[in-house]
Amino acid sequence: AKAPMRVAVTGAAGQICYSLLFRIANGDMLGKDQPVILQLLDITPALPAVNGVVMELEDCAFPLLAGVVISDDPNVAFKDADVAVLVGARPRSKGMERKDLLEANGAIFTVQGKALNDHASRNVKVLVVGNPANTNAYIAMKSAPDLPRENFTAMLRLDYNRAASQIAAKTGKAVDGIEKLTVWGNHSPTMYPDTRFATIGGESVDGMINDQAWTRDTFIPTVGKRGAAIIEARGLSSAASAANAAIDHIHDWILGSNGKWVTMGVPSNGDYGIPADTMYGFPVTTENGTYTIVEGLEIDEFSRSKMDATLAELEEEKAGIAHLLG
Ligand code: NAI
Repeated sequence: AKAPMRVAVTGAAGQICYSLLFRIANGDMLGKDQPVILQLLDITPALPAVNGVVMELEDCAFPLLAGVVISDDPNVAFKDADVAVLVGARPRSKGMERKDLLEANGAIFTVQGKALNDHASRNVKVLVVGNPANTNAYIAMKSAPDLPRENFTAMLRLDYNRAASQIAAKTGKAVDGIEKLTVWGNHSPTMYPDTRFATIGGESVDGMINDQAWTRDTFIPTVGKRGAAIIEARGLSSAASAANAAIDHIHDWILGSNGKWVTMGVPSNGDYGIPADTMYGFPVTTENGTYTIVEGLEIDEFSRSKMDATLAELEEEKAGIAHLLG
């Protein structure tokens, strides 16, 4: 039998984790032959609720769940972690400005980045889900100078999955046949879902849809505003679909995408005019625990303007937290 992998998850008492933890323990993230030890972090007042979630995990009798650690100390929760999914973040409360939100989360992700730096496995794979996800991932990366920067990623997978689902519905084709779809940039309404290279069964998606107005005026805004639409409908932000995207992201990163393009928020290597280290959604292929940004794609004028707009937002967020990074 395989040795268990240690999966640290923050925000364990929250709504995303109420789906995510059960799927990890069920083997959906790391494989049906991979035992896992969950190392759960939340803030002190939330620990009783985390205990309740752990009681339910026990009651599932998952064969792959080899242990559970609960803590309010990141130095404990990240100890020897092979995977860290950072879901917990400070939600925006009434009267809180964007700047205050950035600041509050900056404080969380500097501490967590340092704890990963000091205690996690040197190969730890970090996925930041908590918003603003790209900038939080950037802060954690910059706070962990002893870990390879490519170990830090932000979640754009929900946006990618939303885009894929919209295309499947529009074309009437199966969602898993979609290849070479990309979502560029920030996990925010400025993101740019790009269908220009996408194919189904080798056929161009843009050619199949053959309606540029739909792509620009319906598809792009629908994907960008999907999070808000879920809140409007449900009264709560997306949770099960966010958990599912986190499962997909880590699953593909570790087990490989078999040549398929998926989208991850990763530190830029300077390609496509995106400044190095900017945590930006790129098309990647994944294999054996590494991801490779798809290179050499042509960027037309429309795409350039969309990619620059989402970059500008990220640069602004970065400027807002620069003082926290010393
Ligand atoms: P939630 O409010 O239900 O749960 C958040 C949990 O994080 C709470 O249990 C809270 O106590 C905990 N927490 C707060 N500060 C913490 C800290 N310093 N350390 C550890 N835990 C801490 O929120 P939900 O719905 O689970 O969402 C979590 C985050 O994920 C939010 O920031 C949300 O905006 C974001 N999100 C990101 C998506 C993406 O695609 N990147 C999609 C959906 C949500």
